[in-house]
Amino acid sequence: MTTPQIPTVNTINRGLPAGKMPELRMMPAPSDANVYGDVFGGWIMAQVDIAGSLPATRRANGRVATIAVNSFVFKNPVFVGDLLSFYADIVKVGNTSITVQVEVYAERNRLQANTVKVTEATLTYVATDSDRKPRKVPPIETLIHP
Ligand SMILES: CC(C)(COP(=O)(O)OP(=O)(O)OC[C@H]1O[C@@H](n2cnc3c(N)ncnc32)[C@H](O)[C@@H]1OP(=O)(O)O)[C@@H](O)C(=O)NCCC(=O)NCCS
Repeated sequence: MTTPQIPTVNTINRGLPAGKMPELRMMPAPSDANVYGDVFGGWIMAQVDIAGSLPATRRANGRVATIAVNSFVFKNPVFVGDLLSFYADIVKVGNTSITVQVEVYAERNRLQANTVKVTEATLTYVATDSDRKPRKVPPIETLIHP
């Protein structure tokens, strides 16, 4: 009797960061491309902003507003049909602000497991109250799901 083959972690992750969950997975459509067939940088920036806001909102336990895009690098082009994974990690928590690093990977030619890092960005969000004014980020121990 032969032992069934169990896929390795690398096979499962297909070149994506091991042991991490993406905040978003998206596939750009033809309407997201420029005249050269590459995906608009602005479309990628919008998704990065959304992905970064998710851990910031959880950490702030409420609404946040983007105050700054500190850095943004398009390392490789994105093509229609790429499967994009957006990973977002909080790198700094201030009095009212939360800074998040976002990394984006594209799985292209997916049957060949060809994965490339396409974007790296750092954004800062501010926790805001119902009047859209800055409020203190709550202590982490008060959060149910930090
Ligand atoms: C977000 C907003 C409420 C903050 O109000 P503000 O009076 O400008 O805020 P403050 O000057 O008190 O700064 C708030 C925090 O942001 C940080 N901050 C300010 N400017 C920054 C910058 N350029 N880069 C990084 N952080 C910055 C401050 O250091 C402070 O952090 P801390 O409290 O952790 O020390 C206000 O700027 C705003 O409404 N901006 C528009 C937001 C928006 O429309 N975003 C797009 C859609 S979400």
